Amino acid sequence: MAKTIGILTGGGDCPGLNPVIRAVVRQGINLGYNIIGIKNGWKGLIENDTVKLDLSSISGILPKGGTILGTSRTNPYKKPDDFNKVKDNFKKLGLYCLVAIGGEDTLGVAAKLVKEGLNVVGVPKTIDNDLSATDFTFGFDTAVNIAMECIDRLHTTAESHHRIMVAEVMGRHAGWIAAYSGIAGGADIILIPEIPIDIEEVTELLKKRHSRGKTFSIVVVAEGAKFKQTGEVLQEEKLDAFGHVRLGGIGERLAQEIEKRTGYETRVTVLGHIQRGGSPTAFDRVLGTRFGIKAVELIEKNQFGHMASLQGNKIVSVPLEAAVEKLKTLDMELYETAKVFFG
Ligand code: F6P
Repeated sequence: MAKTIGILTGGGDCPGLNPVIRAVVRQGINLGYNIIGIKNGWKGLIENDTVKLDLSSISGILPKGGTILGTSRTNPYKKPDDFNKVKDNFKKLGLYCLVAIGGEDTLGVAAKLVKEGLNVVGVPKTIDNDLSATDFTFGFDTAVNIAMECIDRLHTTAESHHRIMVAEVMGRHAGWIAAYSGIAGGADIILIPEIPIDIEEVTELLKKRHSRGKTFSIVVVAEGAKFKQTGEVLQEEKLDAFGHVRLGGIGERLAQEIEKRTGYETRVTVLGHIQRGGSPTAFDRVLGTRFGIKAVELIEKNQFGHMASLQGNKIVSVPLEAAVEKLKTLDMELYETAKVFFG
């Protein structure tokens, strides 16, 4: 009898999820598996909310952003009852193995389920690119390209009005999107969660730039960046199921401080979920496809508890624990490169 593979997408959505789903379904069917989609992340496994996936269900999804399976930030370990339902439904659905596509939270749950004796393999996903044990996650390249295009657009309006433009990009704990989009877009200052913001230093840099005749500047700030003195800026204190606060607002606070301290007219643009929406880039489509094929290979080789990972240009397998034990913060060598162009 054919074995059944389940597949779910958890956490924030991300361009490239559908290419992974498509690859798992295509390769899984090639190798004789049945494929079931679990809807809305771990929530679907708690509620037994599933959909059969066949070749017609994945037709045309490669260029589509988001996830055809839906997603949620559900943590089945919050309530013991939910966790028992996950185990029961895993059995009821007759799953041979589950492919969990997600970031540190979703893969953290996957790693725990493996310890409970369930067959689970992982695929790393996050636009933030802050997962360890893989050089890149899909979704990051798309987010960077969107942010870069926005920075390009901010340049022309900044120059025309002789203003400072602050662009707030995503990046809860790591400055990967800020650094890549800022370098690619020619930002004059890039502020990241890894290094507390010294507002004096920021204003000095801007004044220095203006003293050499420049009448506009672009400042890129990651949403998770904090002022040296006052810390993180939150939209609300409420925590999600994995204990994360809702960030956002650092751009506005920074713009106010810059204008107050320099007298230069300053505006802020918060890019927000624009960075997560829409069609994946070619890089993310190819990476997602390669990860999906690798996930099926891991199942074929009984490498449960592992995930697909990009190392150099090779797709390899790494233990799930290696991905979730600590966050991958920005490479400081890259930040040094960015700093050459500050001010
Ligand atoms: O983890 C990815 C991410 O986009 C972060 O950059 C951001 O802080 C968070 O998700 C936003 O989450 P939500 O979609 O729940 O507002």
